[in-house]
Amino acid sequence: MGEANTYHQAPSEQTDQPPSGCPVNHSWSPLDRAYLEDPYPIARQLQEENAIFWSERLNHVVVTNMADIEHIFMHPDVFASTNVQDPIYPLCPAAVSVLGAEDFDPVAVMSNRPEPDHARIRVFTRRGFSNRRLASLEDYMTTRATVLIDEMISNGSPTNYVESFAFPLPAEIVFRLIGFPESDDAMIKRWCVNRRAFSWGEPTEAEQVEIARGMLDYWRYCRDFVAERRDRRRDDFTSELLNAWEADSGPDRDPDATTGISYREVESVVYGISFAGHDPVTALLCNTLLCLLPRPEQWRALVADPSLAKNAVDETSRFESSQISWRRVTTQDTTLNGVALPAGTRLFLNFASANRQSDLFDQPDVFDISRPDASRNISFGKGIHFCLGAGLAKMEARIALELLSQRLPNLALVEDQPREYFPNITFRGPEALHLQW
Ligand code: HEM
Repeated sequence: MGEANTYHQAPSEQTDQPPSGCPVNHSWSPLDRAYLEDPYPIARQLQEENAIFWSERLNHVVVTNMADIEHIFMHPDVFASTNVQDPIYPLCPAAVSVLGAEDFDPVAVMSNRPEPDHARIRVFTRRGFSNRRLASLEDYMTTRATVLIDEMISNGSPTNYVESFAFPLPAEIVFRLIGFPESDDAMIKRWCVNRRAFSWGEPTEAEQVEIARGMLDYWRYCRDFVAERRDRRRDDFTSELLNAWEADSGPDRDPDATTGISYREVESVVYGISFAGHDPVTALLCNTLLCLLPRPEQWRALVADPSLAKNAVDETSRFESSQISWRRVTTQDTTLNGVALPAGTRLFLNFASANRQSDLFDQPDVFDISRPDASRNISFGKGIHFCLGAGLAKMEARIALELLSQRLPNLALVEDQPREYFPNITFRGPEALHLQW
């Protein structure tokens, strides 16, 4: 997913009216309890009723088919991504006031930055995910994953996998990618908790203020960290971005310069990438086990042949993705699949229906780690904003499955555990996952 929040499109530029001629749904919202618990049957039904419809409760046009979603992703000039980080409901004045601090000035850098600046910045950010860096992170990942599993085993069965593995591992990996020191891990993790509520959920006023304070503290930490790295480079993503910034026109350039990558953009990338890089991965790690463990024949196949882990991760991303929607807004009047959409129409792209589309996937509601076209899913987007961390996320999930299937072949879900999903419109992973062996 994209990075942390930076707002630059006033809601007034967007329309709250259903486009004329567009079917209207008065009752459904992705925040409904039944949808949060199991979105798939409802998403299928909505798709069968209308490929495209206006959701009155969400104030968005909902797009349900893979072909339409891919068309949108491939036409960023007409379907802009500027709204992807916007809170779906207005923030309370107290949270706005926290973020009104004079020094809170991150800029949109990746997922919600329009062209041509997005392409300019992505030239630099994609280098941080080079094969060389991924290979160097793979060793660290395997070592950390092994240590966490050792600790899990020595603490004894059962375990809450979110706490013992699925939260700490991705957070630490993205922090090492950025270059944050290990000694700061606990503090940074605290600031990043619940961030998904901010833009994609319906947090209470008190929660909004708490999250906003975490964002402000984290932004200040990132600025200090980047300043420190400016003077002392290392072999990390932040140093790489700073080298690119400096190579362009030296350390004294205007912080908002618009060629190369500006200093403020470097700070903002560092700030934004941490949430993008760990929350959905935590969910992916849990979702792989939620799919595999209740299907003993699939788990046994993986235990017998851990090379199936790679495809098992792709199949999880299709069948039970950690990101089941994303957003766009039209920049001009246009037509999508026969529906006229005026400029300023907000779109909710429903990955949950597209990833299980019955004319695309054979038996779409069957989870099959040997499915040949599992990677055909849309969970990491497509086109110019395609997820930068897809390779990293999948590598983490693959390594976790390889290690767990070999170390704990009799792993199972604790029976009758409640399944809680954090109320939000986009991210999907259990709040806790109790495992036994
Ligand atoms: C299971 C895990 C993940 C999922 C499901 C996911 C999904 C997505 C999606 C759907 C997008 C938007 C694509 C679009 O608008 O076309 C995106 C963008 C992005 N993701 Fe991820 N992501 C994951 C992990 C990561 C990780 C680990 C990182 C970094 C460490 C990351 C960094 C980014 C960035 C920087 C963007 C914006 C790219 C751009 O606008 O050019 N993501 N991701």
